[in-house]
Amino acid sequence: MNREVTETGTREVLAARGLVKQYGAFTAVDGVDLTVHAGEIFGLLGPNGAGKTTTVNMCTGLLRPTAGTVRIDGLDVEREGRAAKRLIGYVPDEPYLYEKLTAREFVHFMGELYGVRSRLDERVEELLNYFGLLDAADNLIGGFSHGMKQKTGLCGMLVHDPLLLVLDEPTVGLDPKSARLLKNTLLTLAARGRAVVLCTHILEIAEAICDRVGILDGGRVVAEGTVEGLRQAARGGSAESLEEVFLRLTGGDEEGLVVEALISS
Ligand SMILES: Nc1ncnc2c1ncn2[C@@H]1O[C@H](COP(=O)(O)OP(=O)(O)O)[C@@H](O)[C@H]1O
Ligand SMILES: [Mg+2]
Repeated sequence: MNREVTETGTREVLAARGLVKQYGAFTAVDGVDLTVHAGEIFGLLGPNGAGKTTTVNMCTGLLRPTAGTVRIDGLDVEREGRAAKRLIGYVPDEPYLYEKLTAREFVHFMGELYGVRSRLDERVEELLNYFGLLDAADNLIGGFSHGMKQKTGLCGMLVHDPLLLVLDEPTVGLDPKSARLLKNTLLTLAARGRAVVLCTHILEIAEAICDRVGILDGGRVVAEGTVEGLRQAARGGSAESLEEVFLRLTGGDEEGLVVEALISS
């Protein structure tokens, strides 16, 4: 990595305040506040349709909020968009890559887009090597599996060494080895002072690597804290899995009721 970030723990890398997104009469995100510090991995959890993608799209400046503000390391995403966006690396849930570019061309292109001047060629090769893409680096992205596209997207996201990394459902389509590589990469980057926001509906990932999580449901944060803190708050200290906390808070235990109904009939 090029630079070290020293103010880990106190530096607010992401500060979203009062985020609202309305689509017509429908409110997809309903007053969300998020703070993520340097050195932290924050998990944004929630069932499908909770508003995770909409929230991070507003945080990265891709989507304009109906109300609310977002600051990236103090920069306003709307008013200082160019400078703010340089600090962000984003991998969307569907990796929209340029299918007619090779993996190597794509990562190089992303580096140029983000204004990487020093050692770009070396950095591209390092990243391709790190994600096991060197053998396929001259193949067109259009022929890649979802997992390989994800890994190519990750290279593109990391090439400018962003301060804030935002990943939307990053392990979908990754084989277990690549998923582990990604988890270790995020832990290392956080240890070096980057901030990470991870949207996921897979609780095991959150339990494994997130310092803090927020549970989103119906566009609102219904719980926030450390994984351990949420467990304790939910059941006065006794061990409840994050999954149980999650299902109860998001009303998802209907599945259990359905199974019970099936059994008793
Ligand atoms: N462009 C859009 N127009 C209308 N509704 C949308 C749009 N994008 C998302 N939504 C709705 O907003 C809600 C939140 O979606 P999303 O942020 O994708 O949830 P998640 O990522 O948690 O699954 C869903 O009900 C979704 O159908
Ligand atoms: Mg989503």
